[in-house]
Amino acid sequence: GPMHASRRHDSAHKHVTGTADYIDDLPEPSGLLHGALGLSDRAHAEIVGMDLSEVAATPGVVWVFTGKDVPGINDVSSNGSHDEPLLAETKVEFHQQPIFAVIAETRDIARRAARKAKIEYRDLAHWSDIDGALENGGALVTSPMTLSRGEAKSEMANAARRLKGRMRIGGQEHFYLEGQIAMAIPGEDDEVTVWSSTQHPSEIQHIVGHVLNIPSNAVTVNVRRMGGGFGGKETQGNQFAALAAIAAKKLKRSIKFRPDRDEDMAATGKRHDFMVDYEVGFDEEGRIHAVDATYAARCGFSSDLSGPVTDRALFHADSSYFYPHVHLTSKPLKTHTVSNTAFRGFGGPQGMLGAERFIEEIAYAVGKDPLDIRKLNFYGKPGSGRTLTPYHQEVEDSILERIVGELEESADYQARRREIIEFNRDSRYIKKGIALTPVKFGISFTLTAFNQAGALVHVYQDGSIHLNHGGTEMGQGLYTKVAQVLADSFQIDIEHVKITATTTGKVPNTSATAASSGTDLNGMAAYDAARQIKERLVAFAAEKWDVPVSEIAFLPNRVRVGNQEIPFPDFIRQAYFARVQLSAAGFYKTPKIHWDRAAGKGTPFYYYSYGASCTEVSIDTLTGEYLIDRTDILHDVGRSLNPAIDIGQVEGAFVQGMGWLTTEELWWDAKGRLRTHAPSTYKIPLASDRPKIFNVKLAEWSENAEHTIGRSKAVGEPPFMLAISVLEALSMAVASVADYKVCPRLDAPATPERVLMAVERMKAVG
Ligand code: MTE
Ligand code: MOS
Repeated sequence: GPMHASRRHDSAHKHVTGTADYIDDLPEPSGLLHGALGLSDRAHAEIVGMDLSEVAATPGVVWVFTGKDVPGINDVSSNGSHDEPLLAETKVEFHQQPIFAVIAETRDIARRAARKAKIEYRDLAHWSDIDGALENGGALVTSPMTLSRGEAKSEMANAARRLKGRMRIGGQEHFYLEGQIAMAIPGEDDEVTVWSSTQHPSEIQHIVGHVLNIPSNAVTVNVRRMGGGFGGKETQGNQFAALAAIAAKKLKRSIKFRPDRDEDMAATGKRHDFMVDYEVGFDEEGRIHAVDATYAARCGFSSDLSGPVTDRALFHADSSYFYPHVHLTSKPLKTHTVSNTAFRGFGGPQGMLGAERFIEEIAYAVGKDPLDIRKLNFYGKPGSGRTLTPYHQEVEDSILERIVGELEESADYQARRREIIEFNRDSRYIKKGIALTPVKFGISFTLTAFNQAGALVHVYQDGSIHLNHGGTEMGQGLYTKVAQVLADSFQIDIEHVKITATTTGKVPNTSATAASSGTDLNGMAAYDAARQIKERLVAFAAEKWDVPVSEIAFLPNRVRVGNQEIPFPDFIRQAYFARVQLSAAGFYKTPKIHWDRAAGKGTPFYYYSYGASCTEVSIDTLTGEYLIDRTDILHDVGRSLNPAIDIGQVEGAFVQGMGWLTTEELWWDAKGRLRTHAPSTYKIPLASDRPKIFNVKLAEWSENAEHTIGRSKAVGEPPFMLAISVLEALSMAVASVADYKVCPRLDAPATPERVLMAVERMKAVG
């Protein structure tokens, strides 16, 4: 049936021919005005004077407004903490923080006028990074979390061997191709409609209500698609939607806000940088006995999603490994930088990268292949006494041994590693490395309430179907997969399912499309809606044609009733005339999960997704430059709902992860200014950077042990962490310079400069 089939993304042709409508492509309502942001040029300062008269006097400017003009609450915090003003009033806490907004006849006028502001500041002490935050008292933006099991501190002393270290892990800019954008259209009375490029329409609805002091039922938020979100549009669209809505209600005209790339990069949050301080105890074989680690994160000036992000770093601080004794603590640090936010993996990649560093350290310490140490420390089979995570959930569904074993074979890992070691012996300047790393990623929102979804399905008299659900489309193929679920339920061709824009007016109280759970949740909700309609149809047919229910079946594009077969549209028309309700609201909530954060115990994840990747690299030890020669991936998506889309997700996530760990470097200067705010200075991977040989396969034999839609597994984030094999392969190439005697402790991103410096350190070791 249509489920489990490789179908192209419903908008694939539109994406590549430029006919997919993004918000800036929608016809503009007449009289539309444009907004621009007035941004701070201090990292931390009191605002002592603000003269906006020249801004307001600029021809074409219609309105200039500040935090005082916000009719409701001047706050866009996503978590009720009220720590994120829409427009800063008395102090600024990061460079490029929005202070005022300009509305003008054209975008160009608004932007130019914004620069004419005269703002007087009294500078305050500022720090932009983790070290600065720690030196200045280590204030936190939200409460830290601790996960603990066994006796990590005392058992450390009982381990045969111990080592201590520190790893620095860089952040990442989302670099969605479509930037942030919102268009607000005023309605009657208190009503307003907002088109927002957002992963979280219900939150935009809530925030717009909150800044305008109007109830949620007055606000409708729509989004047909985003040109990428990657977590960067989970909360970061709030400010643009809020500003547009305020101006639209005030001026009774439609308003559009679209920052340019530099402003978007400077004024919206990114992936958190982390500093991991660790002590690991292990035996002579390399088996981990105890882990004690602290995860400090650069959170920026407000909490935003830093709580759940730093929590997820801890949830994945075990990567795929059993820690008999463990103590993990997060430090969500306040810095005078833009507030960091969700980004594919949500802190998980940073936590996992730390664990892979522990493994590398141990491998060099005991003189073994890191892959052997990985295998030695994998979670065990149920009953092995080695299945409990640091958060006290049992790992019951691990298929890592099989995944890693199959990849080791298909990538010919052992032979290639031997050849590489030989190659390195004879090659003077070019050195090679190879690494095979695992992925285990927990699926579910750790805030249990978010694990719910709704769908609205209408069957019209001609047999065509209208589908709506709470998930948003950002290129990941969610809309296509949910349409497949529906087509499969009714056994009709997918062309008869109309996929419609996500809107708060059809499905209310939705969760962000995030945590990779879009298909699990919305696919199930759509399935539930179809089930209700089908039950009514079956009851109707049984009565009308007087046949037992067991003799009614949905066949491709027709329905069998006893021994007659009726084309689907005819069947539906008859049901309509019999007054059968042909519309249903479906609902789903994930079973089994619960989480007690204070106790650090529970079952936060419904299941795990697994994968493994093997990467070979070459580095030039004179310059630090490198090439990725080959990557092999075997990834688990359960029973794939759409192998073509899933392979695309795996490839895309891997390359995005590779960018994070190699060339993408965020850099703030001493004044707290982000200097890498455009593609000229911030380097995402190019097509030419992809592995020269790139073999990507799904574990076709896998099936979700849980009752997910079609027994599939989530795919959005887990493959991002497959890129860790790139960093570890680079690390091995560097280590060869000192004959693999010491772990190079390569930090991320491993830019060519950082690789070169690591090579120089190795030369000193000899
Ligand atoms: N794929 C594309 N093409 N564009 C995106 O923005 N976002 C990723 C992932 N894949 C993203 C993507 C992130 S961060 C998440 S959480 C998931 O998609 C969200 O969608 P899903 O829950 O439907 O998988
Ligand atoms: Mo994805 S970071 O959960 O939007």
